[in-house]
Amino acid sequence: MGFEETRAQSRQLAGSLDCPWREIEVHRFPDGESRVTVPPDVRGTGVVHRSLDRPNDKLVELVLAAETLRRQGCDRLVLVAPYLCYMRQDIAFHPGEAVAQRVVGNLLARYFDALITVDPHLHRIDRLDQAVPLKQVLSLSSATLISRYLATGERKRLLLGPDQESRQWVEAIAAQAGLPCAVASKRRMGDREVGIALPRETGAFEAVVLVDDVASTGTTLAETARLLAQGGVTRIDVVVTHALFAGDAWNRLKQAGVGEVVSTDSISHPTNRMCLAPLLADAVRRCAF
Ligand code: R5P
Repeated sequence: MGFEETRAQSRQLAGSLDCPWREIEVHRFPDGESRVTVPPDVRGTGVVHRSLDRPNDKLVELVLAAETLRRQGCDRLVLVAPYLCYMRQDIAFHPGEAVAQRVVGNLLARYFDALITVDPHLHRIDRLDQAVPLKQVLSLSSATLISRYLATGERKRLLLGPDQESRQWVEAIAAQAGLPCAVASKRRMGDREVGIALPRETGAFEAVVLVDDVASTGTTLAETARLLAQGGVTRIDVVVTHALFAGDAWNRLKQAGVGEVVSTDSISHPTNRMCLAPLLADAVRRCAF
């Protein structure tokens, strides 16, 4: 089952699984509430696909759908959320701040039996089941998909992660693509303000591919690209798993001198070049049947 905004992706997943596909319909009332209608004929195991970018409405709709599917006879629900929201807020930085990762993880664990996601932003914890307390939690990596995509391009490129958190992704992709990699360091001052220090390796390359899990406001990638261009790098491309692109993120990247931007189809966006369906289908087979 899937929702309207990623209908193509959820249909592809159903196709890869050779399963029937149904839409969960959402009507948004003028006052912001949602009417959710699930298909009437789902029994046994139900697989619900929904990426949780722009998550607040989607989370409520997911809960409404899950509750209703159970009432109608689903005894096992698998959530496939290629992008898993609220993973970056993993501690309270100030007194009184909600640790959203834990709260949202507990919420999802109450309504679903299993969760499958891709490249979740795990920073201060090692395993996803520490955030989403379920027996079956599959955290997939898009490294193979991305490395295959990059392997078809120019060989003399440096893969650069913009901050320490990106090390996990950039190193995995570089190892599989057979490309060199390095990691910059970042200090965040605000939503749209970061300070980046480039590693010395960047001086030896004319072409750099920036690799990160998400482009949100685009600030991290744009500031890194700006410094690279200033230092003489002539070609700067970007690859991300999750194309969030909030607000003017796209323009920021372009103004900073970024060339090609590509992403997986975890979130529908014109930069989508890599299809996650086969990877997700393999994971669903492992935990749903
Ligand atoms: C943070 O550690 C993440 O990996 C991303 O670098 C970050 O969330 C990107 O956010 P923005 O695009 O707003 O700089």
